[in-house]
Amino acid sequence: MNFENGGDVNPMESIADELKTVWLGHHYDYMDSVSSTNTICYELAEKGAPSGFVLCADSQTAGRGRRGNHWESPKGGLWFSVLLRPSCTLQEAQALTLVTAVGLCRGLMYYPGLRAGIKWPNDIYSGGRKLCGILSELKPGETCPEYVVIGIGINLSTAGLTDRIVSEAAGMEDILCDSVDKRELLCRLLLGLESAYDQYISGQKERLFEEWKNHALLLGVPVVVETPGGELRGVPMGLTDDGFLLLDMGNGKGAKVIAGHLRPQNPDDLNN
Ligand code: BTN
Repeated sequence: MNFENGGDVNPMESIADELKTVWLGHHYDYMDSVSSTNTICYELAEKGAPSGFVLCADSQTAGRGRRGNHWESPKGGLWFSVLLRPSCTLQEAQALTLVTAVGLCRGLMYYPGLRAGIKWPNDIYSGGRKLCGILSELKPGETCPEYVVIGIGINLSTAGLTDRIVSEAAGMEDILCDSVDKRELLCRLLLGLESAYDQYISGQKERLFEEWKNHALLLGVPVVVETPGGELRGVPMGLTDDGFLLLDMGNGKGAKVIAGHLRPQNPDDLNN
């Protein structure tokens, strides 16, 4: 046993000596295996966990994705949730997922070989496959959110994933052909997230949305958007002031899309 390094202690148990943020991740917990970091983080938020708290797990037994999907979270990936208690309106809080995607891209810039891009609203793709998903869950207060839990899942390798999703998923280490230090990755992502949240809360929404557009993968190309109200076909042009997707549907018609699932009409358009 190596006592100097704390023996068998998992290096993810503490990130304090590597973390360069001012407020994000200074309250931090790590667990070997949990149902879902979002579920546990939500419970801890109810018990008064502070804004900026981060919960990370090595694996999840009931990881949750958007639209009620199961999120495969085998050992080895990076699965974590961030708790925010933002002083903004409920409407403003909805754009926090877009802001999260921007923050993650800032953190992922340290790995230029990834060439990560955002597929609206907040999936991060690399080489035409999904590398990272974001699930935001908000508890409303009277005028502003009581808290928001933002869950982030990044595949490091596709090795542990089932056949069902392996052909659509990207793994960071597979793309980089190199091992990734998970602790370093988490600290870099938290730094990127903190800077994006600070910017958003201090009113610099336009600059953040501009940055989102610079990372966006499917602007200007024909797409299909599956919305709760049915399928829409058009060309995404950017974001509205509220963070909705602006879709040009031809013949002078346009739509503001609040929620949905976007897919390119030509799958090659996802290749960044
Ligand atoms: C998506 O469907 O794209 C969102 C996936 C979000 C997965 C992350 S992993 C950490 C956190 N805990 C969960 O149960 N889900 C999120």
